[in-house]
Amino acid sequence: MADAIVALEGVHKEFQVGSGKIPALDGVSLSIAAGEFVAVVGASGSGKSTLLHVIGGLTQPSRGAIRIEGQEYGRLSDGQRTALRRSQIGFVFQKFNLLPTLTARDNIELARALAGHDQPADRAYERELIQRLQLENRLDHRPGELSGGEQQRVAIARALINRPRIVLADEPTGNLDSRNSEAVLDIFARLNRDLGQTILMITHNPEAAARAGRILHMRDGKLLVN
Ligand SMILES: Nc1ncnc2c1ncn2[C@@H]1O[C@H](COP(=O)(O)OP(=O)(O)OP(=O)(O)O)[C@@H](O)[C@H]1O
Ligand SMILES: [Mg+2]
Repeated sequence: MADAIVALEGVHKEFQVGSGKIPALDGVSLSIAAGEFVAVVGASGSGKSTLLHVIGGLTQPSRGAIRIEGQEYGRLSDGQRTALRRSQIGFVFQKFNLLPTLTARDNIELARALAGHDQPADRAYERELIQRLQLENRLDHRPGELSGGEQQRVAIARALINRPRIVLADEPTGNLDSRNSEAVLDIFARLNRDLGQTILMITHNPEAAARAGRILHMRDGKLLVN
């Protein structure tokens, strides 16, 4: 697909464990268009997180090609790959992964600083993001002083601060109660609808998956055709 924002061709990932090899990804080809909201479902161990990590450039595939907006990771240097990841991709994890000693504001700002200085701070965008996520009154709190839902909203702000072309979320509602899960899913749905944000979200929750425009099913490292 010419206008794919994410494209995978024959991606394999094997993990060496002892004398054996685990095929975590077993020939995955996939194309995601800009503006899509895609859910990934499948049993534990089916390769969902590995898929997200290779798309995010955190893990290198054993074989196959991964392109983000036409740029193939395998053809980039480590530095270029890191720069691509930090500027184009926002990660949201199940366990939030916020730095405990930093305030919410500083957790968000750190992601901006890490992306490099080529992007000047866009204060209007930052304010809108914070407002959308209803974090105005929580910016001076450390993660330990925030509820689970609030921590996940900070993590979403951190993921979005650099206006990534794609958001990768690994069970973003996995540690939230149903009310906070709903709130996070509403945020994703609105970002996708209002801003055309491309989102790839792993979930075990059928209701969460139903919020996406397309659902990918994984089994034993393969994408099931549906
Ligand atoms: N770093 C690693 N070293 C060795 N094996 C790994 C590693 N990471 C993942 N695996 C294996 O690869 C397979 C796929 O793992 P992955 O984490 O992608 O599954 P998942 O679908 O995300 O599962 P879950 O729903 O439990 O999070 C599993 O068999 C897992 O044990
Ligand atoms: Mg996983």
